[in-house]
Amino acid sequence: MTGFSRRVEQVSISGIREVFEAAGDDAINLGLGQPDFPTPKHARQAAIDAIEAGDADAYTSNKGTEGLRQAIATKHARDNNLDVDPENVIATAGGSEALHLAMEAHIDAEDEVLIPDPGFVAYEALTNLAGGTPKSVALRDDLTLDPAAVEAAITDDTAAFIVNSPGNPTGAVQSVADMREFARIADEHDVLCITDEVYENIVFDGEHRSPLEFADSGNVVLVNACSKSYSMTGWRLGWVTGSHERIERMLRVHQYVQACASAPAQYAAEAALSGTQEPVDEMVSAFEQRRDVVLDGLEDMGLSVPTPEGAFYAMPQVPEGWVDEVIDRGVVVVPGEAFGDHGEGYARLSYATDTETLKEALDIMSEATAAVTEL
Ligand SMILES: Cc1ncc(COP(=O)(O)O)c(C=O)c1O
Repeated sequence: MTGFSRRVEQVSISGIREVFEAAGDDAINLGLGQPDFPTPKHARQAAIDAIEAGDADAYTSNKGTEGLRQAIATKHARDNNLDVDPENVIATAGGSEALHLAMEAHIDAEDEVLIPDPGFVAYEALTNLAGGTPKSVALRDDLTLDPAAVEAAITDDTAAFIVNSPGNPTGAVQSVADMREFARIADEHDVLCITDEVYENIVFDGEHRSPLEFADSGNVVLVNACSKSYSMTGWRLGWVTGSHERIERMLRVHQYVQACASAPAQYAAEAALSGTQEPVDEMVSAFEQRRDVVLDGLEDMGLSVPTPEGAFYAMPQVPEGWVDEVIDRGVVVVPGEAFGDHGEGYARLSYATDTETLKEALDIMSEATAAVTEL
């Protein structure tokens, strides 16, 4: 069959799914990209109340309900030192749609987009779908993105670069100094910085700051979502904020591809963002304990792993054949190359699973490590 667009032909289905399927049903799954916690009760209840009252039956305004956009602005003032006008917020179908809007509104054919490598799988695909050209920027040894490497990669064709902290697949948290540098680069080189902050609340060490706080030029667009921070991946609710001009362009895309984010999800998100943050604190401290268990386990196996300071991933360097051996023994991990060429020689482990299961998986990984290093 023919007639497919060149843009779509450049994109393939994510390699992560294939790994799940290869492992079988009773495998221990350390491949998942979502928290294993329930959505906070008050967020669920807000959606139920809105549905029962009939408030969630109809389209909302394209940008989202006033209540949600005000809650997002209040959250940015509370957590990020940002003065966000609720008019400059679009509620989206998850962080994924927010990234898509940012790309569609800013990227033309011939434009290059600098993406962290290894990095979240959507960046390359969304760049291709927008008709642009993804260009990898290799991470530092500690798996953070070096602003100097971004600056060095900028050419006349560079339209945008992506920053993702805390990072997927790395768990790395960029320093405040790095975030300032990304803002400076966006200002001085007149390129767009798309900052993907969906793991913002899951930070154990260091401090999360946004490049949007430090930029003067309006060249930073911030993407966030309730998905990871509030364990709401199924609700599909994210947002994008930035300058009035950029939001207006992204709204043109959003209006036709989505009309508005799901109304019940908007009510749930408003409650999640403005209600008690205790469930988030509990989840983050559970993740931190598990992070330590995973780190100890990997180090005991003799694997080198930068300390993940956030999100719920660890990315050890692994010997050749390790990933296959681990998967054959019934533990799903994702090979680093699923996240870009520079991911080769690494594996991503998600610790969004209980400590007992993690310990069991670590024992299996330890046997696998012994098996491949003996070969
Ligand atoms: C770095 C990063 N950005 C964005 C997303 C998309 O999140 P959402 O589920 O809100 O669309 C993910 C999901 O895995 C992610 O890891």
